[in-house]
Amino acid sequence: GTDSTSAASSGSGQEGTVHETTAGEVAHLLQSARRVVITPGYGMAVAQAQYPVATLTEMLRSEGVEVTFGIHPVAGRLPGHMNVLLAEAKVPYDIVLEMDEINDDFADTDVVLVIGANDTVNPAANEPGSPISGMPVLKVWEAGQVVVFKRSMNAGYAGVQNPLFFNENSVMCFGDAKATVQTILNDL
Ligand code: TAP
Repeated sequence: GTDSTSAASSGSGQEGTVHETTAGEVAHLLQSARRVVITPGYGMAVAQAQYPVATLTEMLRSEGVEVTFGIHPVAGRLPGHMNVLLAEAKVPYDIVLEMDEINDDFADTDVVLVIGANDTVNPAANEPGSPISGMPVLKVWEAGQVVVFKRSMNAGYAGVQNPLFFNENSVMCFGDAKATVQTILNDL
């Protein structure tokens, strides 16, 4: 079962129930998925998690799971940052899609793996009055299940809290993204 802990988050003071998961549970979840989307962000670069992420992609695809990547135009800290890292790790180009190419597909997605992304997947961008109001974002919350890989409840670059982390269909997998994805590989 998934742990539920009531957590007060840092930043804007928003509170809610955080559903915590483990690498073992994520491995289990992925075994029954047909369609998986991976949305990487700055934290993938910090952790250098692109290598185990590429291996995970290869393993899932060899089991017949459809895996694609959704790349936000300002994910990371440099133009094309995620594309460079994924190319370096030999992720095939044809499964790496831009935000506009993938944003209508989340509703038909079983599992989204948010690897060290935060602002680029923040649904508060759709709320008037939010500091990031109007910024286009990846609509990951439309998927069946969202797994967020990060170390803490801390905010991203823009310094704003992310309500995605408190959704009923979101689970948090806390830890360094590279170490966590490596553990998932061992559990698959
Ligand atoms: P961010 O919103 O910056 O969030 C990255 C997240 O990665 C953090 O919340 C952090 O959470 C997590 N993280 C850091 N190290 C990690 C690790 N070792 N393992 C796992 N997670 C880790 O990322 P984003 O979604 O890519 O958005 C990019 C932001 O940068 C946008 O606000 C954008 O406007 C801005 N920006 C982009 C560019 C370009 S051109 N790409 C240039 C300047 C600014 P924890 O601390 O909890 O781990």
